[in-house]
Amino acid sequence: MLNELEKIKKEFLDSVEAIKDSKALEELRIKFLGRKSALTSVLRSLGTLVQEERVLVGQKANTLRKEIEERLEQIKNSLHQKDTSEVPMDYTLPGFPLSLGKEHPITKTIQEIIDIFSPLGFQVATGPEIETDYYNFEALNFPSDHPARDEQDSLQIGGLSAEGILTKAKGKYLLRTQTSPVQIRVMEKTKPPIRIIAPGACYRRDNPDASHSPMFHQVEGLAVDTDIHFTDLKGVLSEFVHQMFGKEVKMRFVPSFFPFTEPSAEVAISCIICGGKGCPTCGKSGWLEVLGAGMVHPNVFKYVNYDPREYTGFAFGMGVERIAMLKYGVHDIRLFYQNNLQFLKQF
Ligand code: PHE
Repeated sequence: MLNELEKIKKEFLDSVEAIKDSKALEELRIKFLGRKSALTSVLRSLGTLVQEERVLVGQKANTLRKEIEERLEQIKNSLHQKDTSEVPMDYTLPGFPLSLGKEHPITKTIQEIIDIFSPLGFQVATGPEIETDYYNFEALNFPSDHPARDEQDSLQIGGLSAEGILTKAKGKYLLRTQTSPVQIRVMEKTKPPIRIIAPGACYRRDNPDASHSPMFHQVEGLAVDTDIHFTDLKGVLSEFVHQMFGKEVKMRFVPSFFPFTEPSAEVAISCIICGGKGCPTCGKSGWLEVLGAGMVHPNVFKYVNYDPREYTGFAFGMGVERIAMLKYGVHDIRLFYQNNLQFLKQF
């Protein structure tokens, strides 16, 4: 009987190597473990043996059965792994498309403005959106009772207590209504020559409509040196206008008022829709206002301890939404903030 078991074991080990697929595996399982297998008949005949022999042969036969079962299980697992690793792959199939995000039209327009002014020597500067009355108005030569403040309805956000906590007491902090406070912050920290542009968000208490938004963006410009003239302002702005809107566009300066520039001007370009003939976009005038500008007021220099007899400068400020609306033909400022992908994807 023990010989018989040895023979079964050898035969099993010889044939097991040849198994290539699960069909051959099943055949082998039936051959060595099935009801008609040699091993099964050995186990069946145990009863005919004497006690000692029965124990010995019984143990050996059961061990062999276990060995065979385990080996078959191993083969089954490795076959299964092969099966899955051999799932045919078509490497030429196109991949899943990744939808790329893109710049918001306002970010894009700010970048276009920066790209025009950078080669002219202007560096980007930034300042806080939460400003003090001092930087937003006072140091820009808007005294507290000046009517020019009425043009920029501000959103007040209270003041700081002695412990540095925001209180409801009005008056000290506000959301900046313009990017002009960056002029003051830069001049306080640096000595001329200065050439900066300052892009950023501004806030005014305006009800939203097609041309107003309580949050919008401006780009400020400032140049200060010992010999800056109005012609420098005109030269820089005409370069900007031509690069932004095209060589054929005309530019004109209309006298205006800002407390922090003197003289001041509103800069307009010939209407890019009708070419200056007059249309609904330009209100039939043929001109579109695009920015405010002027020579830095001597009083402003006094606030930052510059000697107005030594230095002169020019400043300008433009609304980014306004520029983007004109350039891309957008008729409602609110479209910039509604996150409508159909709109945003066009830029
Ligand atoms: N800050 C002004 C405004 O918001 C624009 C401006 C900037 C005018 C710089 C002159 C010089 O109306």
